[in-house]
Amino acid sequence: MTVHFIGAGPGAPDLLTLRGRDIIAACPVCLYAGSLVPEAILAHCPPGARIVNTAPLDLDAIVAEIRTAHEAGHDVARLHSGDLSVWSAIGEQMRRLRDLGIPVSVTPGVPAFAAAAAALGAELTLPGIAQSVVLTRTPGRASSMPEGETLANFAATGATLAIHLSIGNLAHVTAELAPHYGADCPVAVVFRASWPDERIIRGTLADIEGRVAGVERTALILVGPALSGEGFAESCLYSAGYDRRYRPQSAESPWRGWTPEAEGGGNG
Ligand SMILES: C[S@@+](CC[C@H](N)C(=O)[O-])C[C@H]1O[C@@H](n2cnc3c(N)ncnc32)[C@H](O)[C@@H]1O
Repeated sequence: MTVHFIGAGPGAPDLLTLRGRDIIAACPVCLYAGSLVPEAILAHCPPGARIVNTAPLDLDAIVAEIRTAHEAGHDVARLHSGDLSVWSAIGEQMRRLRDLGIPVSVTPGVPAFAAAAAALGAELTLPGIAQSVVLTRTPGRASSMPEGETLANFAATGATLAIHLSIGNLAHVTAELAPHYGADCPVAVVFRASWPDERIIRGTLADIEGRVAGVERTALILVGPALSGEGFAESCLYSAGYDRRYRPQSAESPWRGWTPEAEGGGNG
């Protein structure tokens, strides 16, 4: 018996991985975080599966469900929204299961920040503009931030910021960031990326707050000059004169004679 943690993606039911779908179909028990996991994904559960929405349960009750399945020898599909590596609470669940000697597996999912970037049609890392993306949040009612993980500190790098769980703190976000990025820095708020009611609101640090009326949760705030999609140089990757293993430029190139079969890797 194994508990399979599965990233269920950002919302659209077809943004689930094939591996995730197949594991769900093979598990007689499915626990899902109902606040964000779309119910359509539950259609992959086998007939007669026990399906439990864990949104109203506390950690003890969730672990009790898993123990019951474990004692019956039933595999469990445990679904969380997006990917599991950020704000999924799998850390605390896996620690409990480790203590109980219950095996786990982890299947990644499409994270919300990637779905939001896709909705915008944006590359968040543009040459010479931003080469890092910071996935962060602001403090909430139930979560403080570790010292040092401040918006001002991240902003000092000039990276693209993907700010989660913070639409209710938008005034604080813009006030913290404007001194670093400038008031005219582009901002995009993506509400429920990939859901049927997805909304995209674009603006700047100066005016975004006045544009997001009605957006109260399940939104990402993306900030940084890369969001303009302009003012950047082309990368070397596809530059005609750039000597690289897939495209040697001269007889003297160290890559002459190299074949992909001889070595894996590369980016296009
Ligand atoms: C508890 S976190 C879950 C993050 C998730 N594990 C991931 O990989 O994206 C929930 C926050 O993620 C963001 N989020 C999740 N789904 C989203 C979506 N479809 N569109 C925009 N933001 C989303 C929002 O900021 C929301 O407050």
